[in-house]
Amino acid sequence: MSEPKMDQRIGQGRENWASQVGFVLAAAGSAIGLGNIWRFPYLTGTNGGAAFVVIYLAAIIFFGYPIMITEMTIGRKTQRNAYGAFAALSPGTNWWLVGALGVLTGFVILSYYSVVGGWGVAYLFKTLVGMLPKGTDFAGAFVGHITATWEPIFWHAVFMGVTTAIIAAGVVKGIQRWSEILMPMLAMSLIILVLRSVTLPGAMAGISFYLKPDFSNVTAKTVLDALSQAFFSLSLGMGCMITYGSYVSAEEDLTKSALYVVSMDTMAALFAGLAILPAVFALGFEPGAGAGLTFITLPAVFAEMPLGGFFGVVFFFLLCIAALTSAISLLEVVVAYLVDEKGWNRQRAAILTGTACFLFGLPTTLGYGALSHITFLGMDLLDTYDWITNSICLPLGALLTAIFAAYYWGTKNVAEEANRGSTGMAVGAWWAFLIRYVVPVAIAIIMLSGIYQRIAG
Ligand code: TRP
Repeated sequence: MSEPKMDQRIGQGRENWASQVGFVLAAAGSAIGLGNIWRFPYLTGTNGGAAFVVIYLAAIIFFGYPIMITEMTIGRKTQRNAYGAFAALSPGTNWWLVGALGVLTGFVILSYYSVVGGWGVAYLFKTLVGMLPKGTDFAGAFVGHITATWEPIFWHAVFMGVTTAIIAAGVVKGIQRWSEILMPMLAMSLIILVLRSVTLPGAMAGISFYLKPDFSNVTAKTVLDALSQAFFSLSLGMGCMITYGSYVSAEEDLTKSALYVVSMDTMAALFAGLAILPAVFALGFEPGAGAGLTFITLPAVFAEMPLGGFFGVVFFFLLCIAALTSAISLLEVVVAYLVDEKGWNRQRAAILTGTACFLFGLPTTLGYGALSHITFLGMDLLDTYDWITNSICLPLGALLTAIFAAYYWGTKNVAEEANRGSTGMAVGAWWAFLIRYVVPVAIAIIMLSGIYQRIAG
């Protein structure tokens, strides 16, 4: 691995990704996570299948990709963390608030993301040592797991500990190195699972549920779920891609990297659906189980599948890797802020933030047991953290970022920076049109109707 390059334009010796492939894998690692493996398949299941998939793909192309380019460009231009990037581009204004919101949102998302990641690690461990129940009560086993006190806390600590260790090791030696090791493993596991799932007798029913769209049941909720899933899955709306973009050097083809990242994330989601839904149908289970699809339906599916023990291990291994490479990107947003703005050294920033985040996540892990009496608008604590961040903070962050790029920094300036180093796929009028009109309107609609639906009950 080559030494980190210095960026000529700022001359402060900020660490840069050692290669374009390294950057693409790290950013894809951020994007591909629980959102792809856990959330996308169950949303497809509850929203009626292929029609949801089609709307999701449209959301990725028309909203996700333009914002991805915008965030990466803001990062590369300023070579700063999410807060510092806005502050640097708009001195004397209050736009820094958008970056500050992002840093805070990252902290909150990571605190509960690590709890769910911890469930994944626990299930990997249990499938590995054969501790999942042999009988039929998979729902009981899952509820038993999450309502317990110490066991989920333990796995939450393990997950956060590993995340912290990788971030403490640095951008190239930590994030890039581990992304280069883990992402190929992720791809392999996913392919193995898809091949198993689609060759099961009876898989065809699941495949056509997944790929033959029936738009007759599409509702406003289907569209909203697809839009917000697109942002979450691509890690947009809180400066994550600004932070990763800030380690990209000026000569690199940014628009092409953005296209790779978006394509890889989309492929991973589509493959995860193909790994899960046909198997669920083939073994006679319901696709609409919701959030429990991964932890309740799938263990039951694996229990009945030939060689299910092996495929169960592969699946939970996949889930853990995907969650880990996303969690590090969330922690990096906060750590980059502390390093750039407060002058902390990276190890100290990583350890203190990781610890604080672990503590902040504790209420969500207790929210099914000891603290289950605490609810907000009918949601338990984990759902509350999730709702506030995903339904309010991320859309708000993405909306303000789009407005900032389109009307404050200006589409010409964004395009000029985005196209530096470009070898063909230049950002032009189509991007400016989407970011000025289509993206802000769509996001405002998602956010307001999501809040309305929740509060109106
Ligand atoms: N995209 C990740 C997933 O699909 C989660 C994630 C990581 C994220 N960083 C983010 C979501 C930043 C929103 C913003 O699981």
